Amino acid sequence: MQNQSRTFEISEIASWFGPYNVQVHDNPYPFYTYLLEQEPVRYLEWHNMWVVSRYEDVNRVLKDPLFVRENRNAMPQQQQEEQPPQSQNTPWEPVNNLLDNWMLLRDAPTHTRLRGLVSHSFTPRSMERLKQNIRSIAEHLAERMAEEEQPDLIQSFAFPLPVIVIAEMLGVPPEDREMFKEWSHTFARILEGGGDQTPDFAEQSIRAAVEITAYFRSLIAERKVSPREDMISDLLAAKEQTDALTEQELIATCVLLLVAGHETTVNLIGNTMLALLNHPEQYARLLENPTLIPSAVEEGLRYESPVQMTSRLASVDYELGGQTIRQGQVVQVMLGAANRDPAQFSNPNQFDIGRTPNRHLAFASGAHFCLGAPLARLEGEIALTAMLKHYPQMHLADAAPNWRHNVLFRGMGTMHVR
Ligand code: HEM
Repeated sequence: MQNQSRTFEISEIASWFGPYNVQVHDNPYPFYTYLLEQEPVRYLEWHNMWVVSRYEDVNRVLKDPLFVRENRNAMPQQQQEEQPPQSQNTPWEPVNNLLDNWMLLRDAPTHTRLRGLVSHSFTPRSMERLKQNIRSIAEHLAERMAEEEQPDLIQSFAFPLPVIVIAEMLGVPPEDREMFKEWSHTFARILEGGGDQTPDFAEQSIRAAVEITAYFRSLIAERKVSPREDMISDLLAAKEQTDALTEQELIATCVLLLVAGHETTVNLIGNTMLALLNHPEQYARLLENPTLIPSAVEEGLRYESPVQMTSRLASVDYELGGQTIRQGQVVQVMLGAANRDPAQFSNPNQFDIGRTPNRHLAFASGAHFCLGAPLARLEGEIALTAMLKHYPQMHLADAAPNWRHNVLFRGMGTMHVR
């Protein structure tokens, strides 16, 4: 049923990228099947953007430097030179000051510099050092979950685990973590773009940006005086040596890592557990053969990708799938659809924890390949290990999954289990 093939009207396709649409978002897969089969490279007049869904095309867009992130790099040379400096005096300035310094939204050379400065925190050696601590956090949460009558796997386990880990990595004190939930959800909606840009939402976004900036500014000031063993202190030390990272860049990087830590790995854990509970034979297979845990994590990433799409701008006129994408146009690449492309994956709609090869695009590819992928994988593996150990007989208690209202990030708000 889940992947039944049907035709989508253009208004339906357009509404997919507009305000949240429960029917399609609860089950995007028939829509993806339609795109893959009928309209793999489709222009949407309503949004003035292209939607690209096939694995090969998505991979090509992500890897080709002719597709860029920054508006100015997508303009003809002469126009780039004529661009007036960005006005700083708009109410959105606090939001823009953060987003403009996110490596995720920049091209080389700024992207390369920002990424280079934090990449050492995500090396295999750094992961090895974190392993024991992540295990004890997961154990503690799993044990506490067992005390609840009808535990909510998301709120009691999948959400706190990555949040505690990234907060500890950065050096955010435990008592402050609660504040980040709201701020992070607001940034997830800003990233989603398009949606409901109401005056209320604008006010909420600007407030979140002002507050989170002030928060990190004061934490940075504290760490300058008394450094600790955390990422902020490390980055400050690097700054002293090379003067490479400005304070605004440091604040923006902290916010990006926190948002990434809040909005993605929780979905990896929740979505993979949901798929396992919906496929009891795979759950039993994993219990019997725990060496399949890393491969189950990869299949969870492919099957219910936590990040469903991302975008790029064409910097030249570009031929793709028999269509011409014009310079400056937005290209929405559908990671969630590419991960179900039958040209790349046999039986793509089947959840198979032993799938090999499984070269999914859940972490994207190319220059912006997820920096946190080693951490997300480690957390996913430790989370599954703890769940299998404490809950060999787990069942879903909710009649239907409670998908959160965000087209970019696919994950549940709650998931009650027995
Ligand atoms: C980039 C997915 C976890 C940090 C990305 C991108 C994707 C992604 C698809 C590329 C977006 C694009 O190219 O436009 C995921 C998924 C995760 C996850 C599915 C969990 C399962 C994390 C974690 C962190 C993190 C835990 C760090 C705490 C980043 C950063 C970038 C990024 C910094 C930007 C990299 C760059 O621009 O070079 N992630 N992510 N991610 N991710 Fe993740």
